[in-house]
Amino acid sequence: MWEKEIEKAKEHFGTLCREQLERIERMKQQEDWIDYGTLKPLIIGVVGGDGIGPYICQEARRILEFLLEDEVEKGKIKFRDIEGLTIENRAQVNKAIPDDVLAEIKKCHVLLKGPTTTPKKGDPWPNIESANVAMRRALDLFANVRPVKVPAEDIDWIFFRENTEGAYVLGRKGVNVTDDLAMDFKVITTQGAERIIRLAFDYAKKNNINKVTVVTKANVVKTTDGKFLSMAGQVAEDYPEVEWDDWFIDIMAAKLIDPARRSQFRVVVLPNLYGDIITDEAAQIQGGVGTAGSANIGKRYAMFEAIHGSAPRMVEEGRAQYADPTSIIKAAAMLLRHIGYPQKAAQLDMALDICSLHEKKKVCTGRSDGATGAEFADYVMKTIQDPHLEERWKKSQ
Ligand code: IPM
Ligand code: MG
Repeated sequence: MWEKEIEKAKEHFGTLCREQLERIERMKQQEDWIDYGTLKPLIIGVVGGDGIGPYICQEARRILEFLLEDEVEKGKIKFRDIEGLTIENRAQVNKAIPDDVLAEIKKCHVLLKGPTTTPKKGDPWPNIESANVAMRRALDLFANVRPVKVPAEDIDWIFFRENTEGAYVLGRKGVNVTDDLAMDFKVITTQGAERIIRLAFDYAKKNNINKVTVVTKANVVKTTDGKFLSMAGQVAEDYPEVEWDDWFIDIMAAKLIDPARRSQFRVVVLPNLYGDIITDEAAQIQGGVGTAGSANIGKRYAMFEAIHGSAPRMVEEGRAQYADPTSIIKAAAMLLRHIGYPQKAAQLDMALDICSLHEKKKVCTGRSDGATGAEFADYVMKTIQDPHLEERWKKSQ
């Protein structure tokens, strides 16, 4: 019984193994980190995305252009608009990222990206893969870095979510063995686990943070999570000055809302899906997913985005101009830091803290009773220009 079905599933599995083994070979041959300092010009691609994406992206871009005015003038930095990463276009060619759009993206060095709609079964769109997931894979953006801070509660977390494997890499390549049996696959590789864990430990070391927390479910998901955890043990040996511990994802989710424990976490590294879930929880603790930025970093490319979705309803209801651009502006600050402008990034972070947490003279509510994204961005830029920015920020802390 089932011989034919099992044979077909085995064949499918064989193809997946081959693809993953080839990916491992590519990882082994990967070049070293790109040096942004040597590029002239460094190209920042701006990808609006869907729904409220183009609206909020536009505001973050204005702030970046304002902060990088001199660099643009001197020809060190160039902005480039990348059109076409919309759900309509993607649906039309039935691809997560249309080929011509990907080709344009690859001509840039870093990207500022608005949210893109991810169809699911039953939506009016073909059930194509998420553009995010496809882009992370196509550009090998293996580290999803998401900081969360709540100074009043002594929370200062930074999550290093593995971004190219885990439950995601074969997320659209599962198999229905029979009508009754559905199987998906989760992948952890030595090289994939090592590079994200190393990045987390490096970050801890460079920033004098003596604490890395590794999160898995290795007690149950023994093969893949077991590998991730044992890689952590191996990498940790290279960082004797950094203490580390490991937690299971369920209790980690609980401890993030335990005031007695949560401020002890600092740098957290974890496989893809756990990172997806926990970073939404963490962002909520900070004030909502709209308040967090996200960096997707690889050795050659990097992409900075809002952590929330494209909110098509806001566009349908004519409220897109009221969408809160905070998350993507935070991502823009991460972009600045990544390409070597830590001072400009700090100015932007300080201004954002003042505007959105402390003074709140302009607040985006998502509706016409609040500020527009453009008004909020103007407020942030005006705050950056204040010669007493730092004092003002210190007072607000
Ligand atoms: C995120 C998002 C994406 C993910 C979706 C849009 C595919 O939730 O960036 O966290 O699951 O990674
Ligand atoms: Mg998510």
